[in-house]
Amino acid sequence: MRLAPRQYRYLEALGIEVYQTRVRQDVKETGLTPVCGHENMQVTGSGLPQAGPGPEVVPGAAEAIATRQGDRVTHDWEALQREVAGCRLCPLHEGRTQTVFGVGDVNADLMLIGEAPGAEEDRRGEPFVGRAGKLLDAMLQALGLARQQVFIANILKCRPPNNRDPRPEEVLACENYLAQQINTVKPRLILALGRVAAQNLLKTETPIGKMRGKRFQYGDPPVPVVVTYHPAYLLRSPREKRKSWQDLQLAMTIYKEQT
Ligand code: URA
Repeated sequence: MRLAPRQYRYLEALGIEVYQTRVRQDVKETGLTPVCGHENMQVTGSGLPQAGPGPEVVPGAAEAIATRQGDRVTHDWEALQREVAGCRLCPLHEGRTQTVFGVGDVNADLMLIGEAPGAEEDRRGEPFVGRAGKLLDAMLQALGLARQQVFIANILKCRPPNNRDPRPEEVLACENYLAQQINTVKPRLILALGRVAAQNLLKTETPIGKMRGKRFQYGDPPVPVVVTYHPAYLLRSPREKRKSWQDLQLAMTIYKEQT
């Protein structure tokens, strides 16, 4: 199986080392992008021991996501945007510069859900635009996806002061907005980014380490959910990037099962 050059570049940008145990002579000589097979490719987080066979790149998943954009009904979308923009359901509205509704393709097959806006997001009105957002973009690009091809939202639409965790009453106040977003976008797969997103979306207190690598579901009809680490956590703990790459591959495998 072949890693596209852009995937290779972004894996490198993520700090995920991709190498071959058996490098063909012609590749060595020409410097062309390596052809990576399941049996001879390993993907590691920087600094981690390089043990065991690497995960398989899911062929065609990104292309399938990119091309399957149907004519889904979005009639309530603008009304929802207006409602969120004027929301005063919890005290967080007092400290916000603006609400952060979400960004991307309303018909996206992949929906990413984070925690809440930070300072930069509050200022710009768009989720994941700070340092964590740059890493998220790189993660998406490793899958061959641009942020315009997915939909990115948060559990909360307003920034909690000092980036503290969302409070239960704030989550409750915002819950219906996210539910409506998911019902409208109708993604084939949701990727929950980090503990707060995963626990609030799935209504559980299970630690994130125990949620990774599994398939959950949200809503009715059920949308499959995969949980991975928050990009901000990955910035603090780069050794976990290897696991996040495995999570992304699990997400793509489950996504492909939906087609
Ligand atoms: N972290 C989040 O969870 N969401 C954002 O939009 C930005 C940072």
